[in-house]
Amino acid sequence: MTHATEDNITDLAVDRWSTAHDPRLAEVMASLVRHLHDFAREVRLTEEEWLAGLQWLTRVGQISDDKREEAILASDVLGLSMLVVQMNNRFGPGATPATVLGPFHIDGSPAAPYGWDMSEGIEGTPFFLTGTVRSVTGEPIPGAVLDVWQADADGTYEAQLDVDEARLRAKYQTREDGSYCLRTIVPLGYAIPMDGPVGDLISRTDISYYRPCHIHFLFEEEGYERLVTHLFAEGAEYLETDVVFGVKEALVTPFVAQEPGEAPDGTTVDVPFVTATYDFVLQPTESAAD
Ligand code: BEZ
Ligand code: FE
Repeated sequence: MTHATEDNITDLAVDRWSTAHDPRLAEVMASLVRHLHDFAREVRLTEEEWLAGLQWLTRVGQISDDKREEAILASDVLGLSMLVVQMNNRFGPGATPATVLGPFHIDGSPAAPYGWDMSEGIEGTPFFLTGTVRSVTGEPIPGAVLDVWQADADGTYEAQLDVDEARLRAKYQTREDGSYCLRTIVPLGYAIPMDGPVGDLISRTDISYYRPCHIHFLFEEEGYERLVTHLFAEGAEYLETDVVFGVKEALVTPFVAQEPGEAPDGTTVDVPFVTATYDFVLQPTESAAD
């Protein structure tokens, strides 16, 4: 019988976890054990540090619920989310790139007709976004659903509030020619939640804990790769220092200030407003391309 020593414990633990019934689970767990042990050896982890780390993980769990996703936030600020996004969304040239989902998406947003104002009753500068949803091969995708969510002009998401109705989120659909139009308000760049264990850790560093102004989109079209992405406002603060590493050049687009007058949806707006245009380009799935 082999008892554990400092020298053999990694091999013993790797062997044990390699017995996972699912081969992929065996591969993932064996590698995780190896890297965790290497990490502990590399930094010569003390017992106090080990316990502090476990207590931090406990707090991540304790503060989480169906709206507060502290574990996703932890993964985001460590750059892990974006690494996984990059490895798993290698689209061809011309396709709209993916970025982080973030912790604030809510399922089941209401369907919204062309031009619908998803910010009704919420203060802010009116914002109109128009464009098309197309395939990388060029053809428009009629009936494509844009699942949209964003922060308000204070940088707050519905998921951070106690509200019963959908707030600043909706599912728009493209018309026959692939065009879409949504009305909302200009969101604000915002600080990630700093009142939990992730914030505690960040506040002990020089890391900027802000995200630049953006709107989130999710596409799940049959025949196309799932796309989780954002649009960022050109020239916005924090584009260079996004705390979750989510900015990509192709997702930065001008938000253009307009004088009161006719808006892209044909209505008249009697206050200054902002417009942007963006064509989302979806990557056909491999089986669809065959
Ligand atoms: C967001 O964009 O909603 C977000 C993403 C990652 C961490 C926090 C917020
Ligand atoms: Fe966001």
